Amino acid sequence: MNSLNLNARTIFTLVIVAIVLIAGGFLLAGFTPLIFPVQASAESQQIDELFRIMLVIGGAIFLLVQGLLVFSVWRFRAKPGDNSDGIHMHGNTTLEIIWTVIPAVIVLVLTILSWQVFSSIQAPKDDEMLVRSVGARFNWAFNYAAPLSVISQTVDVSTLPQAVQDDLADDEMITVSAPELHTYVGRPVVIEMEPRDVIHSFWVPAFRVKQDLIPGRITTVRFTPTVAGTYPIKCAELCGANHGAMISQVIVHEDEAAYNAWLAPEVEGVIFPSADPVERGRDILASNIYPCYTCHVLTDLAAFNWNGNVGPALNGIADRAATSRAAATGQLPADYLYQSIDDPHAYLAPGYGALMPDLGIGDCDIRAMVAYLGTQTAAGNPVVIDTEAYAAECAGAAPETDFTEATAEATADAEATVDPEATLEAGGPLAEATVGAQSGLEITEEPLNTDTPTLEVTAAETAIPTVIATPLPPTAGA
Ligand code: CUA
Repeated sequence: MNSLNLNARTIFTLVIVAIVLIAGGFLLAGFTPLIFPVQASAESQQIDELFRIMLVIGGAIFLLVQGLLVFSVWRFRAKPGDNSDGIHMHGNTTLEIIWTVIPAVIVLVLTILSWQVFSSIQAPKDDEMLVRSVGARFNWAFNYAAPLSVISQTVDVSTLPQAVQDDLADDEMITVSAPELHTYVGRPVVIEMEPRDVIHSFWVPAFRVKQDLIPGRITTVRFTPTVAGTYPIKCAELCGANHGAMISQVIVHEDEAAYNAWLAPEVEGVIFPSADPVERGRDILASNIYPCYTCHVLTDLAAFNWNGNVGPALNGIADRAATSRAAATGQLPADYLYQSIDDPHAYLAPGYGALMPDLGIGDCDIRAMVAYLGTQTAAGNPVVIDTEAYAAECAGAAPETDFTEATAEATADAEATVDPEATLEAGGPLAEATVGAQSGLEITEEPLNTDTPTLEVTAAETAIPTVIATPLPPTAGA
């Protein structure tokens, strides 16, 4: 082959071919949004734009290669009766330089563009909402830090469960957990993620972001939702038998007010938990904030997706805790159930491996779970926990109604002295207290873990105020 002979006609042909290739690249790239999920974040626009540039280039190269192939098949096909060999040739320096330099330049440009998009997405934004996520086979959990001010009532912090007070003490925020990710349009989000067991991968196709969760590390992912709606979250790393079921949702609310409307009842659920540990335990297990349901089956919670088949079934677990497990471990049934959640590898049910991770579940949550699991008995022999200790450490003085109004009324109104009988019955000293209501008073005692005795006036449904007289817990040595 001779060196390239560029006469006017050749140049014209090359220009036409180039135009056709580029136009074809744009055309092919133009079809791709049809197969993409909705663009629901600022990052999805950046990623899609980058992807479109790659597709224009890739589309043009595809047309060039396929066009040359088809052209060669047609133009250089053997003539009838021609059985001779083709021309022998090797090496064309000009051509080799061209087909090395052009792809090198393309790859370099794409590298720079990709790096720009990547670093722009990863850059911390102003006013980011921090959500902590835990991935564990086969469930996502999202932990939010919520200020108490999100609920509409004034709360006397000293009446809240001790565990909640401890949570509030470090950053004045309440930790709220949900199996879905909630946020709202326009608010940048950063998620700090850690797995409890193996590698998982957080992927929201509508946001075009994906990030692995790596044991022993905290990894982050950032996005800013732009369109309200509900979008799937998937695990994009094969993590075990139910990997395909490790799915959740992002709920993008319209605005902050709508987000807070979701958050407020969640905060109330945390700070005013059911005082009944069995009910509390059921609430926790039915909420799917822990991955238990993805591996265990429990008919009583079948409506909450409790149909996993990786770990032992929990139907009748209270009976086994009291019989075969007690015999095997020498533990009291309630202690055995507690240990099975807190330190799952300490004793493995026969036939099951050491798959369950330490989920880092708080003491009060585990006690409530044990109380509820203790009711799972076919023999009619429930396992019970120490409810007094539970009440003292895990349940607060839960008000039934909004007491902002009631306290306002209380200060405005006349004085009433609390019946000292209540004090005696509650077994502790009661501080002098006055309440603002004249009639229809009802004294109730609520054990409370606090240093200062307080009086709460709450408005009952009938608007007849109820006085909750709070006795001091007996002091040590008393
Ligand atoms: Cu987690 Cu796949």
